[in-house]
Amino acid sequence: MKALLLAGGLGTRLRPLTNFLPKPMVPIMGKPLLESTILRLKHQGVDEVVISTCYKSNHIEKYFGDGEKLGVKVSYIKEDIPLGTGGAIKNAEEFFDDTFIILNSDIICDIDIKNLVEYHKSKNALATIAMTKVEDPSQYGVIEYDDNDYITAFKEKPKPYETNSKWINAGIYVFEPELLNEIPKDEVVSIERDTYPKLLSKGCSMAAYRYGGYWIDIGTIEKYKKVHFDIFKNNCKFVDMSDYNYKRKNIIIDPSAKIVEPIFIGHNVKIDAKAHIGPYVVIGDNTHIGSNSIIRHSIVWDNVKINKNVNLINAVVASNSVIDGMRKIEDEVYANSINDYVAS
Ligand code: GDD
Ligand code: MG
Repeated sequence: MKALLLAGGLGTRLRPLTNFLPKPMVPIMGKPLLESTILRLKHQGVDEVVISTCYKSNHIEKYFGDGEKLGVKVSYIKEDIPLGTGGAIKNAEEFFDDTFIILNSDIICDIDIKNLVEYHKSKNALATIAMTKVEDPSQYGVIEYDDNDYITAFKEKPKPYETNSKWINAGIYVFEPELLNEIPKDEVVSIERDTYPKLLSKGCSMAAYRYGGYWIDIGTIEKYKKVHFDIFKNNCKFVDMSDYNYKRKNIIIDPSAKIVEPIFIGHNVKIDAKAHIGPYVVIGDNTHIGSNSIIRHSIVWDNVKINKNVNLINAVVASNSVIDGMRKIEDEVYANSINDYVAS
């Protein structure tokens, strides 16, 4: 089974984190989101992945190469200008001649892909869209469906009076390749705003798959932090924490430092005297935390130097940052590096 990963968006709402790297590469518990997604797909029977890139595409290609390290064949389709979700899918047409999967690359969930594909086949549909239920659907694609779970309407980011449905597009689709004939070539197309409504008005059969498990898209900084706290609380199985905690190499923690679980520590980390780390803290690789610093509910990326007496609360610190002492950083993103540490 092949999968297409849509990874070309600008990640505007995640700035300044996405000044340095594309959104699908932001680390979740120390590992790029896209890497965990590809590994999950592999365990569910996907053996070939096509990544549709645009913004900072080199970063993604350099990291995954041909996919040999992950044991999955990885190919790339690069856009020089963003073609939108539909244009990106059409652009990858040459790769797909059988039922295939498409995923937005900013989604974290525990969906069973095999089950989704079986469901799609049982519905004899041209496409199946996985849906999840949310309280406020206004920032998503909203789906209305009939008693037999076939989609009757797709409304991208509707006004509250435009729909009563709380079921939204989870950003995971199963497509039959014939659907690609319905998307114009070399044009900017939104699969959500243009193609889905067009298919429905033509009477094409599109099935709705109700997914009830954990789901989040890391479109904003708040949601980026939340997903880590949810993984710590075991609400989300996207990352298996039993493989991680304290099992990395070269961690030096001063005996007078206080560690309050749950925390996740990368490798080559040094924590100095009387530092107070945790709960709900991620410390990336090659990071040094100075004495008397306090870190709570925060995500620190790689190669960071935090000097003594720093106070980090509910913060995110981007890679290669240096934070001087006597500072309190609360509810903020700290990114003072001018280095885009992988060529882009
Ligand atoms: N290659 C390429 N080119 N990829 C793109 C482009 C493009 O021009 N535009 C967006 N993408 C990718 C993004 O990288 C992301 O992985 C995915 O397509 C969706 O784009 P977002 O920018 O994250 O869209 P959204 O969050 O506003 O809405 C989408 O996701 C929701 C679920 O999180 C829609 O699909 C909604 O219907 C859906 O509910
Ligand atoms: Mg999104």
